[in-house]
Amino acid sequence: MKTLIDTQALLRLYEERTPRSKQQYHAARELLPGGVSRNTVSRQPYPIYMQRGSGKHLWDLDGNEYLDFCMNYGPNLLGHSHPRITAAVGEQLSRGFGYGAPTAGELEAARRVRAAYPGAERVRFTNSGTEATMYLLRAARAFTGRERIVKFQGAYHGSHDAAQLSVHPPMSSQEPGWHSVPDSEGLPTSLRDVVLAVPYNDPEALERCLAEYSGQVAGVIADVSMNASGLAQPRPGFLQAVAELAHRHGALLLFDEVVTGFRYASGGAAEVFGVQPDLAAFGKCLGAGMPLGAIAGRADVMSVFDIDSRGVSRVPHAGTLNANPLTLAGTLAFLEYTAETPSLYTRLGALGDLARSELARLGESLGVPLLARGAKSMVQVHFGITKLDDHDDFLRRDTRFRQHLYLYMAAHGIFAPVSGTWFIAEPHTEQDVLALVRCVDTFLQEHYLPLLAQER
Ligand SMILES: Cc1ncc(COP(=O)(O)O)c(C=O)c1O
Repeated sequence: MKTLIDTQALLRLYEERTPRSKQQYHAARELLPGGVSRNTVSRQPYPIYMQRGSGKHLWDLDGNEYLDFCMNYGPNLLGHSHPRITAAVGEQLSRGFGYGAPTAGELEAARRVRAAYPGAERVRFTNSGTEATMYLLRAARAFTGRERIVKFQGAYHGSHDAAQLSVHPPMSSQEPGWHSVPDSEGLPTSLRDVVLAVPYNDPEALERCLAEYSGQVAGVIADVSMNASGLAQPRPGFLQAVAELAHRHGALLLFDEVVTGFRYASGGAAEVFGVQPDLAAFGKCLGAGMPLGAIAGRADVMSVFDIDSRGVSRVPHAGTLNANPLTLAGTLAFLEYTAETPSLYTRLGALGDLARSELARLGESLGVPLLARGAKSMVQVHFGITKLDDHDDFLRRDTRFRQHLYLYMAAHGIFAPVSGTWFIAEPHTEQDVLALVRCVDTFLQEHYLPLLAQER
């Protein structure tokens, strides 16, 4: 079988190039479950262990150099070890990492978030996107006095309990109704009833769900770019309909801008799509590669975090490392740099457009069913589908070659997520984007076309 032979050849190439990674992984498996500390970085047959990053490049333990289109799944918008970030963090290192007291940098960073993001009247910092969406949901519940949350099927919002539902649900026809589907063992079963999941880009479904649970829904949460469902984009008018429906039913509009915030634009997806949420959660780019998240939004909603004279809050928000000065030094340097470089987001968006249009052209010229999705500096390529509006469409794509494409790219010096998004960063050039597309081109010619021919 051709595909089997190809798999073995690709695996052999991978293993020949990365013997030290293989060695590390086998040792790591004895100690770290699955050999890693983050499922996302796990790979078959093993992950490549990186030891250095600079600009657009990574180097692995065996000294191989990679053009990086993963960028740690998004945060490194300025590439690896950007001199401004490195200098700011290095300078802070010598002054201490955390004081058990607030710092002036915290206020300055909050001012910059407020200036950049639509409706960010108040800001609180966390250590990750997961923490940010967790507090987002809690704040929405506290403010509205309601318990249920509506999410979109196939959206990822982090790894806390309420976020581990309907991230990878089956086809909606197999799971009728709004009750969400657990993505993990160990979750309270009652959560299925608390977190309701509706299809993306379907305002009628959202309306029916909100009507069925009238007066019970605290908020509707959206990762506008559906990062976990292949970067399905909102159809024109959809987000406006979500905002209108949520508000009509007394629920808050919650944007999960962990991926899109400070990547699409300083004002995130809210700015790009012209819809302002009541509250938004941030992470990734805002931390400039350091562990940081944030919640921002309407002052009246954010007042649930206020602290009265007895030291009591409606929603206590704690965290030893919240707003630690080391991380914030990186954030401030990032926010200063992006404010000084207004052309940055336009340029990155143009590179994303170039990648998507070149991939579409490639599909046409090879006669391969190929769909390039995403917006701005985020790109995903799908085989075997011609439309991607929701998670059901995402489930219909041809996934047989994801793993092969990963191995093929790694063997050709490109580091990219197996199934996920390709993230374009400041150091990338048009030539880099075209090199990425060329790699997909040769992969399709060598591996995918022969399979399609075999099947015809
Ligand atoms: C849309 C979205 N929300 C939340 C998160 C969780 O962020 P973190 O990994 O920082 O906890 C992620 C992570 O990939 C994400 O893509």
